[in-house]
Order: sequence, then structure tokens, then C-alpha cells
Amino acid sequence: MRMVRLDAEDDFDGWRAAARMLAAERIAANEVLWQIGDRPVDLFGGEPIAVDAAQAPPMRVSRAFLDLARDAALHSEPERFALLYALLLRLLDQPHLLQDRADRPLRRLEGLAQNVRRDIHKMHAFLRFRELPDGDGTRFVAWYEPEHHILRRNAAFFVERFTNMRWSILTPRGALHWDGALLTEGPPAQRGDAPGDDPVEGVWKAYYSAIFNPARVMPRAMLKEMPRKYWRNMPETALVPQLIAGARKRELAMIEQDRAGPPRQLDTPTIRSRGAGGDDALELLRQEATACRRCPLWQPATQTVFGEGPHDAEIMIVGEQPGDREDIVGRPFMGPAGEVFDRAMAAAGIDRARAYVTNAVKHFKFEPRGKRRLHARPHAGEVDACRWWIDQERAIVRPRLVIAMGATAARSLTGKAMTIGQERGRAVLLADGTPCWITVHPSYLLRLPPEADADAEFSRYVADLRKAASSLVQAA
Ligand code: URA
Repeated sequence: MRMVRLDAEDDFDGWRAAARMLAAERIAANEVLWQIGDRPVDLFGGEPIAVDAAQAPPMRVSRAFLDLARDAALHSEPERFALLYALLLRLLDQPHLLQDRADRPLRRLEGLAQNVRRDIHKMHAFLRFRELPDGDGTRFVAWYEPEHHILRRNAAFFVERFTNMRWSILTPRGALHWDGALLTEGPPAQRGDAPGDDPVEGVWKAYYSAIFNPARVMPRAMLKEMPRKYWRNMPETALVPQLIAGARKRELAMIEQDRAGPPRQLDTPTIRSRGAGGDDALELLRQEATACRRCPLWQPATQTVFGEGPHDAEIMIVGEQPGDREDIVGRPFMGPAGEVFDRAMAAAGIDRARAYVTNAVKHFKFEPRGKRRLHARPHAGEVDACRWWIDQERAIVRPRLVIAMGATAARSLTGKAMTIGQERGRAVLLADGTPCWITVHPSYLLRLPPEADADAEFSRYVADLRKAASSLVQAA
């Protein structure tokens, strides 16, 4: 009997090196015991074999197997390393084994790997930090109970996402501490080591209730996605029963409003709770968006250019994407198109500072040409990926009307491709009943052919904006 001692529960590299050495000698799977740290496995295990990864003979295995093994190795199933080694041995003789969907040991390992992937995803989604003042300022501390050994695997995700915060993640399986530059590990923790209620919770709760859409309440689906066991560490879930209880009423109120048809007053206090917590919720959303990786556009861009304006703005105006200048400054409509936009807004009598101005896509897409960066139109996949943000912005701000400037904004808001020339100057109703007015994008006016009447085109643009804004006055 051989015994392999692995350094830790998630010591995939140790398993891999040992498995290579053992498999090179064709040591049978039932001849090997896998021990984690000093935890005793078997009195008859004998001496652990020395594992030196550099000594392990090379072995060719498929990437698919390595991916499977890397994930399954993190499962809390005590037999996982033995099961993986047994599969590896079989693979040496049956290279196509991974395609055998009926093979039970393989299916078992795939099930373990899938559980681990789900656990990784849940930790990304459900971990909540609480604010804790410490000697050096503020530290954010989270208590989380993963089902499997995924803490180290998730470290890079949290470092990347919360690079500028100082944080600690405490779990019963170990802890991670990030000080803004260095990540260190700590011993297992207990729930009592993490703080309870704090100001950040208030922000989360406000955010959650602001984005809660009563027409989309599906308790069963919610429970599947967010099982109750995660609830106790998530402040916003304290609101769920209350929000669900009120959902039907709010939904009926929305339907009732829709019957009245546009234009209408959407701002009745029973349906809207604009104001309370909206500023915090927007700020939280803006911070979250700085780390957006929903599509690859974040890579070459300088920064996320988020929307700006009051959290309770009555009008939301949506453009396409930030341009070169906006990408550097970090605010929407600051370059040449912004200049046209500002003039048109002033001419239409709309105070930009009172509107919420944003873009369908939050990163600058461009093609480098020498020292210049030329605007490139975002494609449908990028617009769809970014729709998540605009949906959240709308859910928090709850504008009484939206103005879509150009085809990209119209597609993002309505989900449909539109010919702006045909639709401009009119409103379409969005799924939640908000009127969405369509007009051209201000950069259209910058690209007019020489024979076009630029003044007349500008006046038409102003007229579209004015018409949209005046529908509010009629509705009030
Ligand atoms: N064009 C847009 O659509 N948005 C901006 O923010 C700038 C230019």
C-alpha cells in the first residue's frame, strides 16, 4: 500500500505530481491512499511516498481531463483524489473514455466538478462584505460558508473585483486577507469573527428593493438560483418576504397604469419609492460597473463610463457608447457629440443637470489608427451584454420617460432593431410601460453630407427633444 500526503484539501498540483509518478509505474488505484495534511487515513498506509513535481515523468492527458480533475479535486467528497486517480489509469488504456457518456465513474466525477463550479459561482454572487473600521481606516469583512474547497480558487476573482478595497473573507475552511497590494491567508474562522449589521447593509437593501421588479417575481426560480442556505449572510434577503408579499399589489398597480395608456403620470407614491436610498444604490451600481467584464470591450478601454444625473431624474437620455474624450474623462457626452447634445438640450429647454444621461454601452469601442482611436460601432452582442447595466439604471432612477438617441440606444432599450428615420419624434412603450422617445444621435449631425441643411437638421433634433419633454408636462 502506498500513501500520498497532499498539502491541503485543494492541493491539485500535489495530486497531479503524485498521480503521474504512480501511473508511470501502473500502481493500481486500490493500492494508494490519499492523505490530506496530517489527517490520519489508515493505520496500514505505510510511509508516504515523496512527491517531487520536477521528478514526475511527463504524461500526456487531454485538456478536458485536466479541467475536469482541477474542478473535481476541490469537492468535499473524501474519495475524490482516489476516484480521479482511478480514472486517470483507465484513460491511459482507453483514450476516448471521456466521450463515454454512460461510464458511471466518469459521470460521478463530472457531477462533482459541476457542483464545484456551481459553488464557485454562488460565492461570486452571494458573498456580501460588511464595513468594519480598523486601525488603518475601513476594512470590508465577509463571512461565507462554501460547500467545497473553493476559497483559494476564488481569490483572484475577489482581488480583481475589489482591488481598491481592503477586505477579508472569513470561512470555516480558511480566510483571505487583501490589503490593496498583498493577499495573505489565514486559519479557518467562525461566524462570530465577522461583524453583523452595518451601514453597507443599508445600501444593499436600498439597492435590492430599488431593482426589485414585482412583475418578475418567481419564488421557485428565485429559490433555485439563490437557495435559502445563502440567505442568512445576505442582508438584502431580509427584504424578500416583504417584497414578495407586496409584489402582486404593485404588479396590479402597474397593469392598472398601463390601461390608462400613455402619456401618463407614473409617479404615484404607492408604486414608486424613488428617493430613499436611490443615490446610494446608484453609487453602488456605478462602483460595480467599474469592474464590468460582461464583454471584452473593457480591455482596451480606459475606464467604464457610467451614466450620470440625479437618481430621481424624470428623464433618462441614452446615447450609444462613450467616445474618445468620454473614455478619458469618464463622463458621458463630453466630446464633440456632447457639445451638439448640450446645445440641442439648451435649445429644447431641457436642463441637462436634471436629466439622467447614459449610454447603451459603457466602454469605448475603437480601432487604433496610428495615434488616433477611431470609433467602432458596438455589435448586437455587446449591446445585449451591456443591457444589464441600463436595466439596473432604469430600475433605480425610474424615469418617467426615456429618450433613445440613435439606433444602438433604441435597440438596447426596446430589444428591436429600428430605423430611426421612420421612428423618430415618436414614443414606443417599453416592456414596463415607460414611454421611450426616439431621435437621432447627435453625432449624426456631425456627419451630415455637405449638401444637407445642417441648421434644419439641428432644429429637427431639437424639436424631437422638446416634443419628448413636453409630453411630461402634459402628463403631469
Ligand atoms: N456618443 C455617445 O453616444 N455617448 C457619449 O457619451 C459620447 C458620444
